[in-house]
Amino acid sequence: GDNVMFLAHRYDIEMEGACEASLACSTCHVYVDPAFQNKLPEPLEEEDDMLDMAPALKDNSRLGCQIV
Ligand code: FES
Repeated sequence: GDNVMFLAHRYDIEMEGACEASLACSTCHVYVDPAFQNKLPEPLEEEDDMLDMAPALKDNSRLGCQIV
């Protein structure tokens, strides 16, 4: 399905995604606008595990390829 990373690519917005959305990297790390943060489903445990390795982790950090 579509996730934020694929949508970004479709509209020529640069977003890294080294593992092509297979939850094996954290290069698609994004910060979610706080206004939308609680509108998103909770991250999976696998996403949280990957996020723990992302640099500059914040409260509103997510993996772009996991936001659908
Ligand atoms: Fe690797 Fe998102 S592209 S976890």
